Amino acid sequence: MPNFKAKIIKELTLPFEKDGVSFLFKAENTNITLIFTQVLEQSFFLQIKKEKNTFIIKTDKHSKPSKIGYLQKALKVFKENFCEGILNEAFGLKNNALVEQTPLIVKDFEELLVRLEKEEKIYIEIGFGSGRHLLFKAKQNPEILMLGVEIYTPALTQVAKLAKAHNLNNILLVQSDARLLLSVLKTKSIEKIFLHFPVPWEDKPHRRVISEAFCKECARVLRGEFELRTDSFEYFDFTLKEFLIFSKPQFLLKKNENLEISSKYEDRWKKQEKDIYDLIVWGLDMPEQNQGEEKFDFANLYLNANQIKAFWQRFEKKSIKSKDYFLSFRNLYESEKGFILKCAFGAFNAPSHAYILLGKKTKFLFKNPLKTQENLKALEELKHKIEQFS
Ligand SMILES: C[S@@+](CC[C@H](N)C(=O)[O-])C[C@H]1O[C@@H](n2cnc3c(N)ncnc32)[C@H](O)[C@@H]1O
Repeated sequence: MPNFKAKIIKELTLPFEKDGVSFLFKAENTNITLIFTQVLEQSFFLQIKKEKNTFIIKTDKHSKPSKIGYLQKALKVFKENFCEGILNEAFGLKNNALVEQTPLIVKDFEELLVRLEKEEKIYIEIGFGSGRHLLFKAKQNPEILMLGVEIYTPALTQVAKLAKAHNLNNILLVQSDARLLLSVLKTKSIEKIFLHFPVPWEDKPHRRVISEAFCKECARVLRGEFELRTDSFEYFDFTLKEFLIFSKPQFLLKKNENLEISSKYEDRWKKQEKDIYDLIVWGLDMPEQNQGEEKFDFANLYLNANQIKAFWQRFEKKSIKSKDYFLSFRNLYESEKGFILKCAFGAFNAPSHAYILLGKKTKFLFKNPLKTQENLKALEELKHKIEQFS
């Protein structure tokens, strides 16, 4: 992460603007000063931390801009205008640093949602592994975006290379647990989901991709069908039963059907003369809770300075844990705009972080967090906690 150390920070007279970088205001607590920074369309915090007799200046990792060049530029402008006695520097500004590349692998869900926005038809493949099926489908359907989701990073790099070598541009890859990915996708935005040869987790069914929650998310995001292909009869049977929670699901069941393409795992199981099962499901009614459409709403939430201090005295560095989400009160900063609360929250395996301005209008300082079930529950809890002090 780009950073530098300085002996002296000069007086911060803000706002300040130079070379396309604006430092608008600062927010402070006893250890850290945050500088609200804007470069073109992106805003983020630079962080100044005092360590013994030096200051370390870097980006705040939870608001960092998606373009590293913006950050490097902001650090350079800050260094040249507010710092003296530079001790060491770990950031370089390349000429092309501001030029965004368009890789097949997206960095995070925010970027993914923006990239999906313009797509008309999207297929998802969960756990694409060596990518044979994903690449084949992309080639066969140039008008459809094949979105691959994998937890194993080398598989993403490998498949991105193959896609490039074959000039396939209708592929997007994201590193995530598929169970999490579905929860951030828009309602009725996906044509088809493939799950081919998932790890069967016979001894630990809770680790399976398929669960009741997953099936409900499928029902919410899918316009078309879900397809499981597996060598495990138990997994096939388990999946069928999970989808039976819906009132009128439709199923197509097949055994030992040959597809036009055989995946790496399929080849392995065929060599061992195992049976292969397909389960194709559609006609899923929407779950009652249409979580993707919900909004975070801090309307009418206002605490004055004394109330905020009382709130912070009660919750400083505390965490609240429930069965499926948590809420952790990390830091409170004071600024001319009001108090800024930093929280971590949401699912245990995918925490979100946010800065919330507790001013006249309580709001997220940067972009809104993803509307997952866990985030919504955690932020509802936060609202209640704040309300107790108003
Ligand atoms: C048995 S391999 C099958 C790979 C490929 N579909 C094939 O047929 O050759 C299962 C793949 O799913 C991935 N995987 C396991 N759990 C996952 C999850 N929760 N989300 C996304 N990918 C997952 C693994 O990393 C692995 O690459």
